[in-house]
Amino acid sequence: KGCKLVGCGSAAPTLKVSNDDLAKIVDTSDEWISVRTGIRNRRVLSGKDSLTTLAVEAARKALEMAQVEADDVDLVLMCTSTPEDLFGSAPQIQKALGCKRNPLAYDITAACSGFVLGLVSAACHIRGGGFQNVLVIGADSLSRYVDWTDRGTCILFGDAAGAVLVQACDSEEDGLFSFDLHSDGDGQRHLNATVKQNEMDDVVGSNGSVLGFPPRQSSYSCIQMNGKEVFRFAVQCVPQSIESALEKAGLPRSSIDWLLLHQANRRIIDAVATRLEVPPERVISNLENYGNTSAASIPLALDEAVRSGKVKAGHTIAAAGFGAGLTWGSAIVRW
Ligand code: ACO
Repeated sequence: KGCKLVGCGSAAPTLKVSNDDLAKIVDTSDEWISVRTGIRNRRVLSGKDSLTTLAVEAARKALEMAQVEADDVDLVLMCTSTPEDLFGSAPQIQKALGCKRNPLAYDITAACSGFVLGLVSAACHIRGGGFQNVLVIGADSLSRYVDWTDRGTCILFGDAAGAVLVQACDSEEDGLFSFDLHSDGDGQRHLNATVKQNEMDDVVGSNGSVLGFPPRQSSYSCIQMNGKEVFRFAVQCVPQSIESALEKAGLPRSSIDWLLLHQANRRIIDAVATRLEVPPERVISNLENYGNTSAASIPLALDEAVRSGKVKAGHTIAAAGFGAGLTWGSAIVRW
């Protein structure tokens, strides 16, 4: 059995924050940010906007493009590291979409690699589990976990959602050729947002162990990042991963119509493209307008490229995500 991408959609918050806006709250400049990262604007959730609403909007657009009813969706995968419910956001999205048959819906947490992992998971569910229509949503709101006084990180991130519908098809039509996935927990020290330890009154449990009680509200620390290490990791691991996925698919580099990387940094994208000898005109990037939107960045950029007519039916895309975990992975797909 095969699987193919049949629709995409995206959504971003209305509040736009420019580099000049950031320069009013931290010691930075439009020049510093745009030269080092390629980012000029980002969108940030505010007021009544919610990540779930954005995810639903992106998913609805993907269903509309695919001409598939919400009732025909049999799996919703919400790739996010910033759910609005600790137990997962996907069931709320399933409900808001009006999927009446109560299809399975669950979250996948793999930071900026989340969407690629979601795509691969969708294919596994279709090939091995008999699923027909799988919605893969990538959505994140890292603005909620950024230290807005830290100029080293707050300039990088934005909020958004993107979605694709992956559908079962005959094997001749298969549109997910191969993938390559990795993680390295040792690299977590370079990029993380860990849970804060509560200050708790110690009480001794009946078996003598010390319990903290009563546990008080928990929260996460802001994003901590060693930018240079993350940069080094990305430019080394991502080209290797794409090469490996191409090899598994039996495809040469020249078969890549579009290189679509997680939109973290212009210099990372350029370095990976150079290593893979993909010319700039075949690289998809919308980083300038949205910053790093984590799990949303690939489906958001794909959606814009499809709707603008850049990516056409039959094109081969090398997509790669990389980020916290550390996690990274590639998928060679046909649109
Ligand atoms: N404005 C002005 N100056 C700044 C800023 C800023 N926003 N941020 C840092 N600086 C200063 C530093 O304080 C430092 O000053 P000093 O030399 O006086 O000490 C100087 O600029 C250099 O700082 P570095 O951190 O060494 O800057 P670097 O050249 O490494 O660039 C950057 C930083 C852009 C973050 C780069 O390391 C990078 O792109 N790394 C990859 C990060 C990334 O993509 N992360 C996302 C991963 S995806 C995910 O999973 C979340």
